[in-house]
Amino acid sequence: MPTLALSPAWQALKAHRLAMAGADMVKMFAADPQRFENFSLRHDCMLLDYSKNLVDAETMRLLMALARERGVGNEMQRLFRGDKVNASENRPALHTALRDDRPLLVDGVDILPQVEATLARMRAFTDGVRAGAITGSGGKKIADVIHIGIGGSHLGPALVTRALAPYSTGGPRVHYISNVDAAAAYTVLAGLDPAATLVIVASKTFTTIETLTNARLVRDWLGSAAEGALVAVTANTRLAAEFGNAEERIFPFWDWVGGRYSLWSAVGLPVALGVGMDNFDKLLQGAHDMDAHFRDAPFEHSMPVVLALLGIWYNNFFGAASYAVLPYDESLALLPAFLQQLDMESSGKRVTRDGEPVDYDTGAIVWGAPGTDAQHSFFQLLHQGTRLVPADFIAACEPHHAAHAQHAILLANYFAQTAALMNGAPQDGFPGNRPSNSILVEKLTPRTLGLLLALYEHKVFVQNTIWGTNAFDQPGVELGKRLAARMLPELENGDPVAAYDASTNGLINFYKAHRDSGN
Ligand code: F6P
Repeated sequence: MPTLALSPAWQALKAHRLAMAGADMVKMFAADPQRFENFSLRHDCMLLDYSKNLVDAETMRLLMALARERGVGNEMQRLFRGDKVNASENRPALHTALRDDRPLLVDGVDILPQVEATLARMRAFTDGVRAGAITGSGGKKIADVIHIGIGGSHLGPALVTRALAPYSTGGPRVHYISNVDAAAAYTVLAGLDPAATLVIVASKTFTTIETLTNARLVRDWLGSAAEGALVAVTANTRLAAEFGNAEERIFPFWDWVGGRYSLWSAVGLPVALGVGMDNFDKLLQGAHDMDAHFRDAPFEHSMPVVLALLGIWYNNFFGAASYAVLPYDESLALLPAFLQQLDMESSGKRVTRDGEPVDYDTGAIVWGAPGTDAQHSFFQLLHQGTRLVPADFIAACEPHHAAHAQHAILLANYFAQTAALMNGAPQDGFPGNRPSNSILVEKLTPRTLGLLLALYEHKVFVQNTIWGTNAFDQPGVELGKRLAARMLPELENGDPVAAYDASTNGLINFYKAHRDSGN
């Protein structure tokens, strides 16, 4: 395969981009009464309207040709059948298998029985806790669950717990601790009863310093209640046992589950405890349905493929360095943070899978916040700033609450903003022509949330396939971890540090001089 930038499809898109220099969305809508129908997709109860983009039929044809030329179909098959798509770590990436019910061989071993056995254990445990049959110390019903984890062992479950709060009746309250700043842990612990609290420590490696430090702090807080309270979710069951977890309280997942793709494994245990295992199953089912859609739909009808290609169009042909994620749904407040890890940890790569430096941009910066609040902070820049920022607007038609008239106000803003971005007000020097995608679901249920999250997982996968990069490793993150581990003992004594660059030495020495100021 020629390098990406020299490939025929890339070159054709470059030429087409020049031809699209004056493209005006308002005019394109006027010229094509079917534009909404032609540039929107429906799957299940989800609508993706991508008609408000700087694309025409030729753009989409050329983008589809790029996906085909870059072997997206083939790479997708490799992903689903468990090939070692994570070449640098010599592993498959099988989050799709966590929500499938078909046998699949990894290194000659069928992984379905382990997946099903873990789900069955999660169900028994979850049912037991929620029914009061599994108790805290002294027979107290579990009122609170603390989940300790970070990155992929935190963001997915934290997002879903919040998003599915309407389904949490009858379950324990679920709290999350991720930051190694002890203030985060103390805030959660305040007011909780150790005898009525379950503590889940989730870490794929069971070596992550933030998670283990918080786990020790909380284990101390539990005191004599620790024995019955500790639960671990990990791919390193030996270290979890050494930490003090009873064998039957260790829920495994496997090295073929990437951290940021691990929500669907036992990392989802706090979700299941909060909303019940039936709802967790529905979340898995939604994600599985998106997997099937991704696997089976022609590229032209595939939501993940279309979203990915639009992202490439702006990133690589318009120089858009970022995109905004704008959920018009307070319960999806953590979606931007979740997608930051999913997308930026997956796509922040400067070499191809073969180790060749890329000569094109890869991952975009993901940012965002819920509307309508965001309208009153950064939307001005989206509308009239000098930079192009494509945006995904996400909303549910039907709310979970009874204030339907208020929900209509929310959605009026949702519709108004994408219309304003596109139409602008040319008479007032406000040209518009700013692109956006609109994703609408009927209602935010466990199933639709599963669809939505898997949609973005596959989008990221398609983009990495086109860029020729590995979506499943994160070597850059490891360097900072190693440095922090080296610095920690040096912070403990009072001696000035001189081992680093002048700035780092200066900062550490300032900290040492001022940490016990008593103010
Ligand atoms: O942030 C780097 C990272 O390795 C993520 O990929 C991962 O989700 C996170 O740390 C937590 O790792 P673990 O689950 O091993 O504690």
